[in-house]
Amino acid sequence: MKPVLKDRISCGLLSKDNISNDITVTGWVHSYRDQGGVIFVDLRDRSGIVQVVFDRAVGGDLLKQADALRAEDVIMVFGKLRMRAPEAINKKIATGEVEILASYLEVFSKSKPLPIPISEHESEASEDNRLKYRYLDLRRAPMQTALKKRHEFIHQIRNYLDKLGFWEIETPILNKSTPEGARDFLVPSRIIPGEFYALPQSPQIFKQILMVSQTERYYQVARCFRDEDLRKDRQPEFTQIDIEMSFIDREMIMNAMEEMMRVAFKHTFEINIGDKIPVMDYYDAMENYGSDKPDIRFEMKLVELGDWAKMTEFQVFKKVVESGGRLKALCVPGGAQLSRKDIDDLTHWVSQDFKAKGLAWIKHTETGLDSVVTKFLPEPAQKELIKRCSSKPGDIIFFAADSESIVFATLGNLRLKMAQKFNMYKDEEYKSLWVVDFPMFEYDEQEKRLKSMHHPFTSPVKNQIEKLIEAAAKINEGFTSEILTTLQGIKSDAYDFVINGVEVGGGSIRIHDSELQSAIFNILNITQEEAQTRFGFLLKALQFGAPPHGGLAFGVDRLLMLALNRESIRDVIAFPKTQRGQCLMSDAPSDVDDKQLRELSLKSLVKK
Ligand code: AMO
Ligand code: AMP
Repeated sequence: MKPVLKDRISCGLLSKDNISNDITVTGWVHSYRDQGGVIFVDLRDRSGIVQVVFDRAVGGDLLKQADALRAEDVIMVFGKLRMRAPEAINKKIATGEVEILASYLEVFSKSKPLPIPISEHESEASEDNRLKYRYLDLRRAPMQTALKKRHEFIHQIRNYLDKLGFWEIETPILNKSTPEGARDFLVPSRIIPGEFYALPQSPQIFKQILMVSQTERYYQVARCFRDEDLRKDRQPEFTQIDIEMSFIDREMIMNAMEEMMRVAFKHTFEINIGDKIPVMDYYDAMENYGSDKPDIRFEMKLVELGDWAKMTEFQVFKKVVESGGRLKALCVPGGAQLSRKDIDDLTHWVSQDFKAKGLAWIKHTETGLDSVVTKFLPEPAQKELIKRCSSKPGDIIFFAADSESIVFATLGNLRLKMAQKFNMYKDEEYKSLWVVDFPMFEYDEQEKRLKSMHHPFTSPVKNQIEKLIEAAAKINEGFTSEILTTLQGIKSDAYDFVINGVEVGGGSIRIHDSELQSAIFNILNITQEEAQTRFGFLLKALQFGAPPHGGLAFGVDRLLMLALNRESIRDVIAFPKTQRGQCLMSDAPSDVDDKQLRELSLKSLVKK
């Protein structure tokens, strides 16, 4: 009997229950061992591996074919499933108790020698080669897990949202640019020469318009495109679970979304992200953790020392505080073991990366405080410092005296580095939180103007709307420092979802009132004209009966990276780009010929 494909069984599912059945399996030759009397082939498909035995006593064509097998050949095998001898049982694989005694072999295709091994371990191939031969890299078990889990996770989310009555709606990819903050990818129009589409940075405007269109609950597994500098948690194209709801408030959205994440994490990864997710004020996050996405798996909060500076005789600290800067400390338990070289390296790092002017430190030893700056600290100042930092012998205290943003960046990042160095958390631990009450605006020192912290469609918190409209009205008579201070104090109805110090999602309650929207544009120094050309279609839509609405978007890649404990989001994306935005497999981006450019009425300035 010739085996047929419709009878095939997944390799990884075979067990004692299938014993002595005639079995058809297909897959890739994972390994090949010639033991003299028998040939063993580990056959692999996406479900796992099963051992196939070719008995030389059978001889004939079957053995001739089996002898010619090489790694990654694709084959079909037919045979009897039998128990392995007790001493041959392999507990490491799910099918380790059984094996197939082959009576038929068909070779579908042969593989050339492999440029990268199909192994469990990333390090056996360079990342460039892994990306170049991605189809081979994806055959490796950790990558198969990533693809499978990603599918399951999105499936869980779809199920959850479906039960809540959400509609999945696709929004266009060829768009007018949305003001999300990053640079757009542009696509030239052939039919209208000189004009461009932008790829969506997110479906933000369309999903708001869908609310005006009476859809009430929308979601999309949305591809987003941002032309920004890439890092290990950033890709030029990435995927969001994008959500928008009408007739809701912040609490309703936050409750629904955290439940969705809890369910999806539990059912896909058996991870508990927390029974009730804590909510933290942006101000507290910055003051205590130096970050708007704090990692709360460990404590080690920043310590306020602004008022303490005057107890000392250290001019650096006193001057900074007197001139309106900030002084804060970070006490690292057990940190006194850091060497001088370690500390010098840290000092260099904070000056390079965060522009810190220095990184004063004090080691707390059995005999007291030890450092070059101790001589500037009278006894009471030392006592007070120890008290505020709750420091003990064996600890180190680091100081940053600078502008507020430098102090936060320096100590916030130092906190993360120290936690990693001193193993203050476990990789399998997950701590989530909401960060809320972000400022509406941040001041851009270079452009000398206010910018939206989230995006210009974000609503201020309800009880500050009036104050904002009043301040905006005064701007036309001149932008005073008083107005600036008022506006900097206004909080937005926005929320970020953070897991283990990674911002995995964010959103806000939107403005559904065109007067308020105009006031915001005024503050952002976007003229009516400019607003009309850029997103007049949204402003117009808001004038025809807009429900109160809000939403958020989760970064799927970041969620997967965290749940699977991977180093980079590249490891959870089937075909990711390099740091330079290239696809090494297909070689995108690439040159196009002059004819294509002419059709698009374009000319390249780059000399070939
Ligand atoms: P935001 O810009 O905060 O909000 O993006 C939402 C989430 O998307 C993920 N993310 C990224 N992931 C990978 N690579 C990137 N380059 C990248 N950029 C962002 C993050 C982030 O939390 N339209 C709003 C959402 C809303 O207001 O509803 C938006 O896009 O996990
Ligand atoms: P100096 O007086 O410049 O020799 O600095 C003495 C110590 O204070 C060194 O460890 C410096 O790194 C540190 N230091 C200098 N300026 C600052 C600052 N603005 N914030 C924190 N530490 C500083």
